[in-house]
Amino acid sequence: LPLQSRHTFALPVMAQNIIEIFKAEQLTKIDFNLPFIILGEGSNTVFLDDYSGLVISMKNNGIEKKEDDEFIYLKVAAGENWHQLVCSTLADGILGLENLALIPGSVGAAPVQNIGAYGVEVNQFIEYVKGYDITQKRFDTLTNAQCLFSYRDSIFKGTLNKKFVITEVAFKFNKSWQPALSYGPLKQVQLTGNNKVDAKQIFNQVVAIREEKLPDPKKIPNAGSFFKNPVICESQLHVLLEQYPEMPHYPVSLNPNGIDEFKLAAGWLIDQADLKGFKIGGIEVNPKQALVLLNHGDSSGADITKMILTIQKTILTKFSIMLEHEVRIINIDGECKISLSNK
Ligand code: FAD
Ligand code: EPU
Repeated sequence: LPLQSRHTFALPVMAQNIIEIFKAEQLTKIDFNLPFIILGEGSNTVFLDDYSGLVISMKNNGIEKKEDDEFIYLKVAAGENWHQLVCSTLADGILGLENLALIPGSVGAAPVQNIGAYGVEVNQFIEYVKGYDITQKRFDTLTNAQCLFSYRDSIFKGTLNKKFVITEVAFKFNKSWQPALSYGPLKQVQLTGNNKVDAKQIFNQVVAIREEKLPDPKKIPNAGSFFKNPVICESQLHVLLEQYPEMPHYPVSLNPNGIDEFKLAAGWLIDQADLKGFKIGGIEVNPKQALVLLNHGDSSGADITKMILTIQKTILTKFSIMLEHEVRIINIDGECKISLSNK
């Protein structure tokens, strides 16, 4: 069965089998002893080859709303589209998700890598996550704290990877909204006459920045940032800043280890290594934003692997930093990590 339209990198590969989940109860009938992967809208998943297992495609829909004096609560099914949720909350006067506009993908995938953009991460609004626990064979709920959220990470990528199918995400929005304008380009958002910004202005600014920098996967297939921004310790930061004083760096806010760590911009590193526009087969380092790889067609999984290894090697040699791919990579047998250190 074809996978090309089910992942935004759009390599024309096939899956042995695909099941679409419209009702959470369908999950109780699946034999999870056979090879499987869970898929939302495939905007963070790159299939390199034909996949020999079952693709479980989350399509369940539905949104329930409740409120009290202080908060608004939403329960949203995993198969809902993220950007549509952002738009519908704003239209309904529920504020908070505006910085996360235009992130592709499903609501169910949002907690998996704790989606983030422009100074906001989704964990700030998640109350709990509900899903099917594959080992226990029952539905279960994890509180926000149990999800172990950090930068581009959560328990769903760690100990619960392939052990928990998210069926619903519960959000909690404080009625007294605060704009998040810490991220550089958002400082341009103008205050109105009464010294206020409104969420719709932030939404519009985020959409404008994203449309300028990030290619629309429907026009040029891509998977967003291909690598994670590397997190390094303070002493390594100082060494690098001596050589590259202008290098962008940000303190890490959600830090599970409690020590001072800094995030670098992988796009800046790749750009400094003169890799913008570099091509292997039909895969190109985006000339506008070097952290994104573009698929111009006629490319193979081998081209992608070669591109990842070439970028990793170049950055390791120049900056002594090992980049890790952020996208989830699936080969014929299932998920794999492509890394120089595996070679
Ligand atoms: P998929 O690719 O289908 O799945 C991603 C992972 O989550 C897979 O490992 C999958 O097994 C798992 N998964 C999916 N659904 C479930 C479920 N219901 N239960 C358990 N596991 C599940 N991300 C950001 O954080 N910030 C950005 O600004 C951003 N910008 C992007 C821009 C572009 C142009 C693109 C293409 C991607 C961007 N991304 C960004 C990445 C992507 O949008 C997010 O990772 C998104 O959450 C992926 O959603 P999806 O439904 O497409 O996930
Ligand atoms: N930069 C360059 N050259 C480039 C790319 C970036 O010099 O080719 C510099 C920029 O000038 C800036 C810094 O690097 O100083 C950071 O770039 P940018 O603001 O574009 O953000 P990013 O770090 O590349 C991250 C996320 C994005 C998210 C944006 C906005 C990761 C891996 N990526 O990108 O998320 O939208 O910040 O918050 O954390 C995604 O995950 O798919 C994604 C697009």
